Amino acid sequence: MDKVSAESPIGVFDSGVGGLTVAREIMRNLPAEHIVYFGDTARLPYGSKSKETILMFSRQIIRFLQTQDVKAIVIACNTASAFALDTISQEVALPVIGVVKPGARVAARATHNGRIGVIGTEGTVGSHIYRDFIRKIDPQITVIERACPLFVPLVEERWIHDPITRQVAERYLDEMKSQGVDALVLGCTHYPLLRSMIGEVMGEGVTLVNPAYEAAQELKAMLYTNGLANPGTDEKEFPYRFFVSDLAENFKQFANSILPYDVEMTQKIDIEEY
Ligand code: DGL
Repeated sequence: MDKVSAESPIGVFDSGVGGLTVAREIMRNLPAEHIVYFGDTARLPYGSKSKETILMFSRQIIRFLQTQDVKAIVIACNTASAFALDTISQEVALPVIGVVKPGARVAARATHNGRIGVIGTEGTVGSHIYRDFIRKIDPQITVIERACPLFVPLVEERWIHDPITRQVAERYLDEMKSQGVDALVLGCTHYPLLRSMIGEVMGEGVTLVNPAYEAAQELKAMLYTNGLANPGTDEKEFPYRFFVSDLAENFKQFANSILPYDVEMTQKIDIEEY
C-alpha cells in the first residue's frame, strides 16, 4: 500500500473481454493514467452465476490487483458491480468504482418521458439494481428491464453486424420499444459494441446510455478530488498491462480489435491462488 501514489495504475477488472469497453473509455478520457486490466476468461460468464460466487471471484481479483499496487479499482463488469461493489468497497482501503451507479445517474438525466429501459445479464437484471438506483434519483420514473443473455456470445463471436444478431436484438427489444422508453441503459460490458444495431432497432428517439463512459467520468472526478490524478510525467514502457485467467492469445486478438492501443502482451495467471 505504501507504494501507491498518483503514478500508480488503475486496476480494472471484468469477467473477460467485455470490460475493455470500460478500459477504452478510461484510455480516451484519462490518457495520463496507467491501467492494469484483469479479465477472468477462465470463469466467465458472470451473468448467470450467483451473488456468492461473483463476490468470491471479485475478492480474489482484488487481492491480485493489490499486488500490482493499484491506486483505485474500477469494477468494469455490470454483474460484479451489481453483486459485489457494496461489500468490496467496505473491505478494501482503496477507492472502488462500479459502472451501475454512473449509468443509472445519466439515464435518469436523459429521459424526458420518464420511461427508461435497462438491458443486461440475467444477474444484473435479476438484482434490479439499475431500477432501484434510478428510482432513488426519481421515484416517478418507470423502469422496464430485460435480460438479453444471447448478446454476450454473439459479441464474442464478433457477429456485431450480422443479420442473426439483428433478429435477436429485435426479438429482445421490440416489446421494450412498444412500451415507449426514451432512454435505454446498455447495462452489460458487451452491449456498447452492439450500439449501432441496438440504436437502429430502438429508433432515433431513444437515447442509448453507455455506463462505461460515465464510469470513466466518475473515476476522473474521484482521482482529482483525492489528489490521485496521474500528472503524466512518467514514461512507462507498458502503460497498459493485461492479465487473464485463460486463453491469453484470444484475449489479445479481441483487445486489439477494440482498443485504441496496440496490445503486445497479455499474461495468464492462476487467479485461484489469490
Ligand atoms: N461482463 C458481464 C457484465 O457486464 C457480461 C459478461 C458475463 O456474463 O460475464 O455483466
